[in-house]
Amino acid sequence: MKRDHRLFGPPSLEAIELFPLAHPWAYAHVQQGKHNTWFPEEVPLGEDVRDWHEKLTEEERHAASLLLGFFNPMESLVTQNLVLAIFPYVRAPEARLYLARQIWEEANHTMAFEYVLKTLPVDREKVFAAHREVPAVRAKEAFQTALTQALLQQHPLDLETRSGQEALLKNLVGYFVVLEGIFFYAGFLLALSWRRRNLLKGLGAIIDWTLKDESLHLSFGLHLITGFLEEYSEVMTPRLAREVRGLILEAVQLERAYNQALLPRPILGLSAETLNAYVEYVADRRLEELGLEAAFGTPNPAKWMATEVDVPEIVNFFEAVNTSYEVGNRRE
Ligand SMILES: [Fe+2]
Ligand SMILES: [Fe+2]
Repeated sequence: MKRDHRLFGPPSLEAIELFPLAHPWAYAHVQQGKHNTWFPEEVPLGEDVRDWHEKLTEEERHAASLLLGFFNPMESLVTQNLVLAIFPYVRAPEARLYLARQIWEEANHTMAFEYVLKTLPVDREKVFAAHREVPAVRAKEAFQTALTQALLQQHPLDLETRSGQEALLKNLVGYFVVLEGIFFYAGFLLALSWRRRNLLKGLGAIIDWTLKDESLHLSFGLHLITGFLEEYSEVMTPRLAREVRGLILEAVQLERAYNQALLPRPILGLSAETLNAYVEYVADRRLEELGLEAAFGTPNPAKWMATEVDVPEIVNFFEAVNTSYEVGNRRE
């Protein structure tokens, strides 16, 4: 029987022969993910606790708590979406292998934030309630869950139909590009701003490693989307391109409200407007990575974040091993 090399297809139990690889880029992501392995307890948080008590202002504690209140449930949401909505329709074994790796990483992130939450003197109840009670967080969560629901309602998705193909494509964009590639990045910028002032360095290290993981998830997602558009070449109509662009623009709007809730007053030399500008800058990069036109033309207000891989190089894994993903020797 001829081997089926398609990346996507209906749920199948046949995709278990890993070699020979049909999609080497997917396996390269697995290898790179392996180099990024880390465990939260490797990071001591004693100094962070002292910073929290002695150095952080009330506004900073509010921002840090709300940041954790967003990140923590989102990690679980990503995991659920990978398992319930994406994995069944990704049929190439090397791509499934990477998704399995990513699922572990998302679980590791959940445990990392739990480690932070139980160590720092935050109001746990308040942090856990944020995704239900803070409208700007609730709105971002609703944006994500609607994309998952759209797939679950059609389960098992018929990828021979346009509505099945469109729902899967929007889900891939909504999770890999919007959540992991836009929503998380403003949070990374804020969290790493404390470290730049020698504060919350333990949290900074955890965020740094999470960021390395997320940029790989984003890169994998962009490859997956490219592969999807190749296999379902009829799906991308001008209308769908407008809808995909609309998802990114909607995400930027949601992020503006969230940034305002996060930073009602400036902290660490950052205002909600600075975060908004960064979100616009990142959103433009994501639009371009999807082959769409940039929408904002906003310059990067935090150039130092470029070294933190906010715009991952989409390397050709067939030709080169990109060492920018190698973080094993960059631990602090
Ligand atoms: Fe994550
Ligand atoms: Fe992720």
